[in-house]
Amino acid sequence: MLDKFNQLIEKAKSFKVSSSDDLENFRLTFLVKKGLLNKLIQEFKTLSNDQKKELGKILNITKQTVEEIYNINSKKITSNHNYSRLNNNLPGYYIESGSRHIISSVVDEMTVIFERLGFSVSIGPEIEDDWHNFSALNFPKNHPARDMQDTFFVDQEIALRTHTSSVQVRLMESGKLPIRSIMPGRVYRNEAISSRSNCFFHQVEGLYIDKGVSFLDLKQTLYNFVKEFFGPNTKVRFRASYFPFTEPSAEMDIFLGIETASDYKLTKGTGWLEILGCGMVDPNVLENCNIDKSYSGFAFGLGVDRIAMLKYGVKDLRTFFNNDKRFLTQFDSL
Ligand code: DAH
Repeated sequence: MLDKFNQLIEKAKSFKVSSSDDLENFRLTFLVKKGLLNKLIQEFKTLSNDQKKELGKILNITKQTVEEIYNINSKKITSNHNYSRLNNNLPGYYIESGSRHIISSVVDEMTVIFERLGFSVSIGPEIEDDWHNFSALNFPKNHPARDMQDTFFVDQEIALRTHTSSVQVRLMESGKLPIRSIMPGRVYRNEAISSRSNCFFHQVEGLYIDKGVSFLDLKQTLYNFVKEFFGPNTKVRFRASYFPFTEPSAEMDIFLGIETASDYKLTKGTGWLEILGCGMVDPNVLENCNIDKSYSGFAFGLGVDRIAMLKYGVKDLRTFFNNDKRFLTQFDSL
């Protein structure tokens, strides 16, 4: 009997397994009910009790050994299998790397300029309540000035912010003075979509609150920005304007000329393009935010998308956001 055990192990060992078909043959030869292993077990069962005692252990070892040989062969086959699938000559997968969006790059460029003047960067929520987007900024309820900005409402009290001026309120309410900060972000308006306007766009808000801040500081800050961003010879002008949260208020234009058809169209034939609104923070706004009367300040709001269009000669605002890689990758190296 002992010989038979040994023979079985030898037979299993020398069984040639080099394909999955061979492996299956191994299994059918040794491991199934009608296989050699089971045949030996049946034979073992016919032995006397004494012999069973003597040989039981060896039977178990034989069984484990044959199973182990099967497992080793099986591993060999599957790893061969993987190996044969590895083809070093195939071209690799090309993983495209992303890059910064042109609007983000322009915001970064602006941020660097204002940081050099000592402005920090603050951000606020895009879903805003009535107080921060309107009331605190001196837009009374039902006041026609609210119509200046077509609003997407979530409910009576909550809306998508229509401007980044809401973040000014949050900063002033925090009570930490003086404030010298810019607030970049996305804003939303319910407007017809065209090459010049979109239902969402981007602004960089600026706020400077301290003792003795004057309109001169405002002008100087913005002149500096334009010179740095558009170049030292850029022509600018201030026009008196109206915003509920600033008094006096102004808008700043830069001169493009009307030499090309697109400049003519963009500037509506005047050569001048508005790039920002600004003014001295209205005393009512300071009071709404609990700021002491001994402080004054200026604020401004720059339209990022328009400035990006200008700087990079983009003719249609919508191309920024329809995710055409041919358009976006032009700005990869910025
Ligand atoms: N919030 C204004 C708008 O979206 C822009 C603006 C004007 C911001 C004057 C200001 C400001 O901070 O002083 O049209």
